[in-house]
Amino acid sequence: MTKTTDMNHDIGQLLMCGFHGAEATEGILDLIRTRNLGSVIFFSRNIESPEQVQRLTHTLQTAAKEAGHKRPLLIAVDQENGVVRRLGSSGTYLPGSMALGAIGSTSAAYQVANATSKELLALGINWNLAPDMDVNNNSLNPVIGVRSFGEDPALVGKLGIAQVEAYHRNGVATSIKHFPGHGDTATDSHLGVPVIDKDVNDLEKTELIPFRQAIATKGDAHPSSVMIAHISLPKIIKEKNRPASIASEIATDLLRNRLGYEGIIITDCVEMDAVKDTVGSARGAIMALQAGNDMSMISHTLEFQQDCFKFIDQDLAAGTLDEDALRKSLSRVSELKDRFLTWEDALTIKDLGIIGCKEHLELSDRLYNKVPTLVRDRQQLVPIQPKKEDQILFLAAHVPLTLAIDSETEPFNSMYEALARRHSNTKYVIFNEDTQDLSSHISEADYVIIGTANGNLHPFQSQLVSLAKSLAKKLIVVAVINPYDLMAFPEIDTYFVTYEYTPPAYESFARMLFGKIKNENHLPITIPNASDAAISYSPYNVEKYTINQLESCHQLWETIYSSSWPLSVQDFSLILSRMEQGQHFFVSNENKQVIGFAATQTIKASNSGQLALLMVDPSYQNKGVGTILNDYCLEMFRNNGSSVMLGSTYPRFFCGVPNHDQIGQKAQVFFKHRGYTIQDNLVWDLMGDLTDYEIPAKITERMKKENIWFGTIEEGEIEDLFKFQEKYFDYWLSTYKHHAELGDYHDLLVAREGGKKGRIIASVTLHTSEGSHEKRTDLVWTHPDLFGAESGGMACVGVASEERGRGIGIGIVAYANKILCERGVKKSYVDWVELVDFYSRTGYQTWRGYKLAAFK
Ligand SMILES: CC(C)(COP(=O)(O)OP(=O)(O)OC[C@H]1O[C@@H](n2cnc3c(N)ncnc32)[C@H](O)[C@@H]1OP(=O)(O)O)[C@@H](O)C(=O)NCCC(=O)NCCS
Repeated sequence: MTKTTDMNHDIGQLLMCGFHGAEATEGILDLIRTRNLGSVIFFSRNIESPEQVQRLTHTLQTAAKEAGHKRPLLIAVDQENGVVRRLGSSGTYLPGSMALGAIGSTSAAYQVANATSKELLALGINWNLAPDMDVNNNSLNPVIGVRSFGEDPALVGKLGIAQVEAYHRNGVATSIKHFPGHGDTATDSHLGVPVIDKDVNDLEKTELIPFRQAIATKGDAHPSSVMIAHISLPKIIKEKNRPASIASEIATDLLRNRLGYEGIIITDCVEMDAVKDTVGSARGAIMALQAGNDMSMISHTLEFQQDCFKFIDQDLAAGTLDEDALRKSLSRVSELKDRFLTWEDALTIKDLGIIGCKEHLELSDRLYNKVPTLVRDRQQLVPIQPKKEDQILFLAAHVPLTLAIDSETEPFNSMYEALARRHSNTKYVIFNEDTQDLSSHISEADYVIIGTANGNLHPFQSQLVSLAKSLAKKLIVVAVINPYDLMAFPEIDTYFVTYEYTPPAYESFARMLFGKIKNENHLPITIPNASDAAISYSPYNVEKYTINQLESCHQLWETIYSSSWPLSVQDFSLILSRMEQGQHFFVSNENKQVIGFAATQTIKASNSGQLALLMVDPSYQNKGVGTILNDYCLEMFRNNGSSVMLGSTYPRFFCGVPNHDQIGQKAQVFFKHRGYTIQDNLVWDLMGDLTDYEIPAKITERMKKENIWFGTIEEGEIEDLFKFQEKYFDYWLSTYKHHAELGDYHDLLVAREGGKKGRIIASVTLHTSEGSHEKRTDLVWTHPDLFGAESGGMACVGVASEERGRGIGIGIVAYANKILCERGVKKSYVDWVELVDFYSRTGYQTWRGYKLAAFK
């Protein structure tokens, strides 16, 4: 093959095409077989049931494999959740972006993406064209609206980044969109070219903030692709009427060069009118590549897709395409595929049990309970308590919806059902522009509930709301898409927002209306001309801990733990100050009193983040304080690309989440609800009584027979011990080094082969409350009710892997016990033990148990 014919074939990897129907069409199969088409996009029209989608993805991948593709197909979908959910009933209902903006928690956003990615993967879909990172700063925007997390760029950034991390961790590629920001326009890009009249400096102030934030992240949260919007930016793009998706000023100058993004850049579908009616879709797809996009999307029409390949052949023959740039794009696409796809996985039929599984339904239910916002309730009408004979009149607006969103035929039916289940005397009327006068119905009803959908864009709704305001005994309005409907009828006293017209959002609205649940969230946008409906945030802010907060944070510890884990302020402070790359945070109330605290450390060598402690004053619990502290710490770890575990290794308060009392068990539920995986089995801290300890004769005999020598390390031999740790237990090396730096050589015990000069084959660190350096924090539980002052213990017990089975482990623990006993230790402590049986043979019992937990 010549260079150009190579390219004719390879270039198929730079296109993403869609097709019609639930089965693979000859057209799409032909493009895969003959044109090396590398990516396919699904819409609702391709999705009927999980089994069918799975068959479809398998057919497409098989065709690619049989046609000799080097790598599997990227199979993409827009499963944003909420109002844009192509999976329909083939996926669990989960809150969409603005609903998540209202909840305001990155761990909620993460969990939604986590569940979505698992369901997508089961279906064989490996690329979600999400999350939407547009800042919704225009109340008249018909296409973005609730698809955005909200109007605060920082909130949009952090929720989007959390979702990207979750998708990537599960092996699903993402596309943050719609670059450089589609939020500030009043035109639907599916119908015309929306104009954003801003220059780059303007964009930097708002729209670019979330994209910049995302691009700055390291590790799993770093975006795998960015999608360019179909918008017009006349102040940035030189050529008149050229949409952003095919303009080099956007993909190359702004995204690649100014923001420094190095991953895949993909266009939104070039069949949108914004391109189709200007340069044409087939030509537009090629222009997009020339403008610096790595991939072009043609979602609907086979003819355009075929034309595009024809034009590519012509352009390559004419030498008008920049082949070097195309080659760079090809290598980016290959990298993306290598990161997320394998043939083995692509051709494996997965278990569909994950779709709508119990865990996902529980997540859906739990999160949707936090979704509805009761924006205003001036007469305190909520919760309503209708008498049996009272009539509820439910008036539901019938409105045309934008093309981007997926709607059921009558989106209000399930809201009616949710209301009627609670109050059977509920009458349901769907109204539109032509509905005749409803005055008498409204006057007769005891409660009137009006469901509106984008009421500020479709004015017939406000006429009915105004009529109801003058006639109804009790009136409740609920906006089910954009929250801005209140602009059209600002006089309304009781106003809810559900952000989406999904059955579970309606169900939780009904729960809130009837008083089963309370409003927990915050409006993530401002409703113009409604002073009491501005964007609202949690009243609590996270601040960085300094020594000035020591006393109050310790006081908080005392409030929660004085009976179970009494701890002096000195020890509390020592642990905090000794943490590796320690960063600690607090939340205070209006009187500046600390009500919440979180301590973290990050182990540099392994980049592992540890949430060492999280505590909230009992009188401030269940108000969201724990959630914002936890989120804050996770965001910090996420931005640094660190893994996350609960508890800390050394120094530590807890090695996981305590399990021995209700406080800890309640905390486990809290963390589980925030997406942590809590291990089933326990790890233990042990306690041994060493008063009058003697090494059992059997152990002494065995060690003699094995010819093992035990003793503490000399200063001059310390490098040997470090080498031993490095070879066998690198995670303990820093602890050994720390103790040596403090001069505690008498606390570093080794076992040697054959005698004092023999090679090190095992080691352990010791500590005694009186004899170890005061900066050590091995045992902080020295309160008389716990281990007491005459206490000590051991940690980091390790035997060289090839020497196991010779009894050396038991031997070194027994020898350590003897030394501790001779130093006056009565109660001895061993932390973080999984092998309880091993220690029980040397006189230890379980003291307190913990569950290990990680955020994965
Ligand atoms: C675990 C702990 C930190 C949680 O803190 P918290 O401030 O109560 O947590 P939150 O208020 O954010 O969330 C708790 C519940 O309150 C609810 N809640 C949150 N905000 C709310 C609001 N504004 N209105 C009503 N309820 C709210 C949440 O729905 C949440 O329930 P969920 O888990 O089903 O989502 C706290 O219980 C604690 O300090 N425990 C003792 C210390 C401890 O054991 N720490 C763990 C070891 S390190």
